[in-house]
Amino acid sequence: MLTLTGEAAAHWRTLVAHQRPEWPSTAELDEVVDHLAALLPLVKPQECDTLTARLAQAAEGKAFLLQGGDCAERFDCLSTRVIHSKLRLLQQMAVILAHASAVPVVKVGRMAGQYAKPRSRPTETVAGRTLPVYRGDAVNGIGFSQAERLPDPARLLRMYDVSRYTLDVMRAYARGGTDLRQLHRRSQDFVARSPVGERYEEFAGRIAQALSSGNACGDDRLPTTELFASHEGLLLDYEAALTRRDPRSGRRYAGSGHMLWIGDRTRQLDGAHVAYFATIDNPIAVKLGPATTPEQALALIDRLDPDRRPGRLTFIVRMGAHRVRYLLPQLVEKVTASGAPVVWVCDPMHGNTFEAPSGHKTRRFDDIVAEVAGFFEVHKAFGTHAGGLHIELTGEDVTECVGGGADLGFDDLHRNYESACDPRLNADQALDLAFLVAEMFHPGATGTGAPDAAVDAAARQAHHGSSPASSGT
Ligand code: PEP
Ligand code: CO
Repeated sequence: MLTLTGEAAAHWRTLVAHQRPEWPSTAELDEVVDHLAALLPLVKPQECDTLTARLAQAAEGKAFLLQGGDCAERFDCLSTRVIHSKLRLLQQMAVILAHASAVPVVKVGRMAGQYAKPRSRPTETVAGRTLPVYRGDAVNGIGFSQAERLPDPARLLRMYDVSRYTLDVMRAYARGGTDLRQLHRRSQDFVARSPVGERYEEFAGRIAQALSSGNACGDDRLPTTELFASHEGLLLDYEAALTRRDPRSGRRYAGSGHMLWIGDRTRQLDGAHVAYFATIDNPIAVKLGPATTPEQALALIDRLDPDRRPGRLTFIVRMGAHRVRYLLPQLVEKVTASGAPVVWVCDPMHGNTFEAPSGHKTRRFDDIVAEVAGFFEVHKAFGTHAGGLHIELTGEDVTECVGGGADLGFDDLHRNYESACDPRLNADQALDLAFLVAEMFHPGATGTGAPDAAVDAAARQAHHGSSPASSGT
């Protein structure tokens, strides 16, 4: 628990914040920050604590995290319908994963704040012309002109407004509850029309049966749905302006979202991001790319979770399909030996990006599946828990990743490529992934705390003889 003095809480300001935009005017930034500091936080400390408790379950293998959404949200694409379809997709996937894993699935949107992007290069060159790179709608515009690419602090206020709107939509959706049978019928429709659907038919049918028996997940009609919001906490000026001390507990919380993560490019131990994250009490995550050493992972734990509070710290591993099997074991081994209760989550997206011949950034569906399979295999070997998935996805019918049931090819990418940054799975690819991941669980090994019918469904799945998928490798 953290009860910091103002000075300790501001220490990060003296350190280097990598990926910080070059705001053209400090005075203007200060004005925006003052404005933000006077606004209400977007999330409540109690909600953040609830998520920490859920993640503590995931650390023990008694829950599974499903975190997903756009790589980069866009101001101009704000749409209630699009938010709903993303939430519905997350829920459909959650039903599939819950029945396979026999544990509750914690649903966390990569949304309502995912407006800032770390970039590998500070500039972009098109047809011989070089301009500052696009850093997300919170910083500059995506259009290729000097004016658009100039960082504008006023965008931080817009970020607050659109995040608040998105959270309002999420909360209303959550209050509306869910008819799980109806929801799952959509997944069955997907199975019926998917070219590879036959493989999932039996399992999807078993889920339907369990839901009809009326006691799966407590009831087939959930009066409310629990949803959380998360984003990369990249822009510390924004995050700090929305950080508040909870008068009841004296603890400090980032008010911009329930869960924040530090990206692979900003996790330096002596950097401002780690120092700022150490001052907040939200559940937090760190992305760990292929360059991560076990020593760095242990040092991050010491800095960010000195009290070893279960649910506080999640490691989102993104090694790449061809590296996860030999890079993850050393991290899991050393962290487990240290006794730290981290949640291990697999991001099978960011280690598998490449450029298609057309110039589109893309990912192969099979690589994504292969990385998740490797992640599960490593945890099985160590007797540790595969605690969750972190996926870039959308409920829309985009053509950004290749492969999947419909076998999208490079020639399809131009048809509906809408991402402002990294390629997302479309709704069908995401459901495809959920069914394939369902096959990777080892039912019986994780069965505590799950509703009986879900345990039954998972046990029946085991007898069905599905093997841990190594599909697509
Ligand atoms: C991202 O999640 O979009 C991202 C940039 O990830 P990473 O920090 O893992 O590269
Ligand atoms: Co991304």
